[in-house]
Amino acid sequence: MIQARIVGTGSYAPKKVVTNHDLEKLIETSDEWIIERTGIKERRVAEKHEATSDLAYEASIKALKAAGLHASDLDLILVATLTPDVAMPNTACILQHKLNAKKAGALDINAACSGFIYGLSVASALIKAGTAENILLVGAEVLSRFVDWQDRTTCVLFGDGAGAAVLQRHAGKRGILSTHLHADGSLADLLHIEAGGSRLPSTHETVDGRMHYVKMRGNETFKVAVRALEDVVQEALEFNKIKPEEIDLLVPHQANLRIIQAMAKRLNMPMEKVVVTIQKYGNTSAASIPMALDEAVRDGRIKEHNMILLEAFGGGLTWASALIRW
Ligand code: UT7
Repeated sequence: MIQARIVGTGSYAPKKVVTNHDLEKLIETSDEWIIERTGIKERRVAEKHEATSDLAYEASIKALKAAGLHASDLDLILVATLTPDVAMPNTACILQHKLNAKKAGALDINAACSGFIYGLSVASALIKAGTAENILLVGAEVLSRFVDWQDRTTCVLFGDGAGAAVLQRHAGKRGILSTHLHADGSLADLLHIEAGGSRLPSTHETVDGRMHYVKMRGNETFKVAVRALEDVVQEALEFNKIKPEEIDLLVPHQANLRIIQAMAKRLNMPMEKVVVTIQKYGNTSAASIPMALDEAVRDGRIKEHNMILLEAFGGGLTWASALIRW
């Protein structure tokens, strides 16, 4: 059996820490409100000179090192992001150049917070089809440039970071067992950026109207998220004919601690079997799962042959799950 196996992970968080107390000085909010409603205590913010590809590069170097591969071994680079360096070229091409990955193709995936699992699906399919042997998949975001620092309903939530995984062709039973992808574009305006594309190009009016920033109807998004995640997790379990107790570790997208706890409860999993990083990084969208994965690999929580469940929900709306035999 041919599988796509994750053979190395890496992550990078910018050095600058912004705490809830720092935000209290900027907007009308409180450390108590943010912790109680989200679980977030602090987040990282990229330096002025850092763009998404710079964060992606740092995470990629670590993932390649962990995999024991050179950039020249890569057949494809996938970057999941909603905050690309520029509209063109894609961020994967910029990363390909930085890494000097001479033979690699380069493609961005925008499925917002579900981007890393969407990327796993593409990478796994290409490896199983024999199209590629080694694929670098990165989730990277500089959301601090896309949030409105005057809007307390969003700016307290998001952070910057990057996580990377190297996937490799593997003859055996370990690897990405399945991925399950969903979307509902009819709910797009629950979580979106209105301007800056072909629909509403940048003008003085769009800038004055603060239309280039993330807007979210948080409470409505929350309700859809909990329902959708329950369904997509169930789908992964049924597809693989496994019971929740057979899962060794849940690595969820980090949008809200209450959503993460609800999923753990639904699966009857103690929180010790759930990777939580939201307190220190906030919501880093496509980067949140690979950053959490890397942390759990490096601190020994993920061991060979473990059954790992991933789930994510985000703008689009999109949601997804994946089951991995590590
Ligand atoms: O990763 C992509 C997917 N995203 C998600 O899944 C996020 C889903 N949503 C959420 O995580 C939560 O809905 C939020 C954390 C965004 C908000 O929590 P909530 O419990 O749903 O609060 P709410 O939006 O219903 O707002 C409650 C109150 C409001 O005041 P009133 O109208 O009750 O007087 C808000 O104005 O809290 C107020 N509020 C704040 N207060 C202090 C909103 N933001 C803040 C803030 N500080 N930063």
